[in-house]
Amino acid sequence: MQNSFVKRIGDYILRPARPEDIPKVISVNLAMLPEHYSESFYDEMLRESPETFLVAELAGEVLGYIMCRIEYGFSTLKKFGFARKGHIVSIAVIDDHRSKGLGSALVIEALNGMRQRGCTEAYLEVRVSNAPAIRLYQKLDFKIVTRISGYYRDGEEAYLMAASLVPPST
Ligand SMILES: CC(C)(COP(=O)(O)OP(=O)(O)OC[C@H]1O[C@@H](n2cnc3c(N)ncnc32)[C@H](O)[C@@H]1OP(=O)(O)O)[C@@H](O)C(=O)NCCC(=O)NCCS
Repeated sequence: MQNSFVKRIGDYILRPARPEDIPKVISVNLAMLPEHYSESFYDEMLRESPETFLVAELAGEVLGYIMCRIEYGFSTLKKFGFARKGHIVSIAVIDDHRSKGLGSALVIEALNGMRQRGCTEAYLEVRVSNAPAIRLYQKLDFKIVTRISGYYRDGEEAYLMAASLVPPST
């Protein structure tokens, strides 16, 4: 079934990515991040996790995206046990359109997509030097779980960050 979710942020629209968006998503990725992927990887992510692959657009132009994978494996937050987890694989917003809330909204809506898919945790890797991204994730209740040495090709370390998706019981 087609996911019909749409959210407005000022003049911007957040909506699920469509196959025809992928070339534009790749352009944003190439311009904004050093980590790149093959076109078939984007296709696979959209096919397998459409609820968590979203774009931000303005006047028909894709200016940002988030792409996540639904996984099952060892819990990132609990010492023992397994969990269904949403992995934020890549997120970027074109620099002229930053600090308008698009990055936060993309993460919030992707977390909702993860909940729809039964995930109880979300996690991601982020460069230890990427202060804007780390601040954004911390604002959305992600905590640093550990530091991964040599995670990036250029040798930079990553923080592994994770958040619980289960609302705390009152
Ligand atoms: C990370 C990124 C997606 C944030 O997008 P954005 O649209 O600017 O995000 P928002 O406008 O929602 O900002 C959210 C929070 O991020 C933080 N933030 C954003 N820009 C920042 C900056 N230049 N310096 C410090 N913190 C910043 C702030 O905590 C901000 O909260 P605030 O609105 O209360 O100030 C964007 O900076 C980006 O595309 N960076 C390049 C790609 C990247 O690093 N991706 C993450 C890889 S893990």
